[in-house]
Amino acid sequence: MEIERIQLQKHGDNGGMLIALEEDRNVPFVIRRVYYIYATQNDVHRGKHAHRHLHQLAVAVRGSVTFLLDDGSGPVEVVLDDPSQGLMLGRMVWRELYDFSEDCVLMVLADQLYDQSDYITDYAEFMREVSGAMYLEDMAAC
Ligand code: TYD
Repeated sequence: MEIERIQLQKHGDNGGMLIALEEDRNVPFVIRRVYYIYATQNDVHRGKHAHRHLHQLAVAVRGSVTFLLDDGSGPVEVVLDDPSQGLMLGRMVWRELYDFSEDCVLMVLADQLYDQSDYITDYAEFMREVSGAMYLEDMAAC
């Protein structure tokens, strides 16, 4: 699958750094929610779900974390370890997060409020839904 990283402009000098995130400027969606994940134990796997509609941008503002992403075409690993790198998480992408460094703070911007019904938490169900969507796209293209 195609991995979309967003390089965020750094402002600053030897005295310190600053990065700004702005709706429809360097963040390609309307920002309706921000959450952050921290104090995750190193042996913990988080995520293990996909979203039917949600778009998100993840930034490891401190430390590092590994993402496994799968849009139905097979898993790809992505390491986030740079506060100036954003990782786009599109709709219908299965994600698992692991190898959190002890100091990791992962900030996530989202284009929708929290909605439990948008989650697909069963991988087999995700594959069924994503294969169905791909089939319909193929049919529409014919
Ligand atoms: P969850 O999405 O399962 O996080 P992870 O996959 O990283 O473990 O969310 C964990 C808990 O936090 C769950 O009880 C739902 C709650 N939550 C909110 O209340 N608001 C939010 O925006 C998010 C992302 C989670």
